[in-house]
Amino acid sequence: MNKVNDTPDWLYLLREFDNIYRRGSAGGSSVIRRHQRVVRERLSHALKSNPELVLQEHCEKPVLAHLGRALDAAYGGPMAPMARVIERLKGTMNWEWGYERLSNDLSKRYAYTELLGPKGSVVSDTLILGLVLFAPRTTYPQHSHADIEESYVSISGAWSENDAAVYAPGSLILNRPGHEHRITIGDRKPCFLAFAWVEPPDRLAQPAMKFAKQPRRISDC
Ligand SMILES: [Fe+2]
Repeated sequence: MNKVNDTPDWLYLLREFDNIYRRGSAGGSSVIRRHQRVVRERLSHALKSNPELVLQEHCEKPVLAHLGRALDAAYGGPMAPMARVIERLKGTMNWEWGYERLSNDLSKRYAYTELLGPKGSVVSDTLILGLVLFAPRTTYPQHSHADIEESYVSISGAWSENDAAVYAPGSLILNRPGHEHRITIGDRKPCFLAFAWVEPPDRLAQPAMKFAKQPRRISDC
């Protein structure tokens, strides 16, 4: 049985999350500062007991063809330490779509991996930490997360949410529960984001992500 403390790169990856939610600026927002603190506290609580590391079956998705380029682009920016440890662990991550229904186009352009959470390699029922990868020119349809507060931190690439701004590596974007958001990715580079979900434990086990419009049913691996 592997424990997180005996698996240094997994511990370093989770410490990178602690780092970005501890050292990253809240931009003067008390709401974002509170979210950063909740993520740090729940991560600290999850790691306190030196939890078991349960490596999931590695599951490929078509968008992973863009992961190398996304990591290359991150090495020159503020998220380089996180990108380097992801490079070492990428073969042990389970990539998912997370929806029963997904368009054929989006199934080639998007996937995420849950690192810590109810289904993660490190189990927590109060926090989900993960990574999401998008191919260039992807539009991730309008969606919301009931009762779940979500933040994204850009690792590499350029993207926009609800046509409101363009986010660069190191940016933190907070989506409050129920907030409808649509993501668009720049033309030439993939986009790689870290994310955190917090809120009630029962909601994290069944996150109920929903698109505003219902695409076709798809089978995950
Ligand atoms: Fe979202």
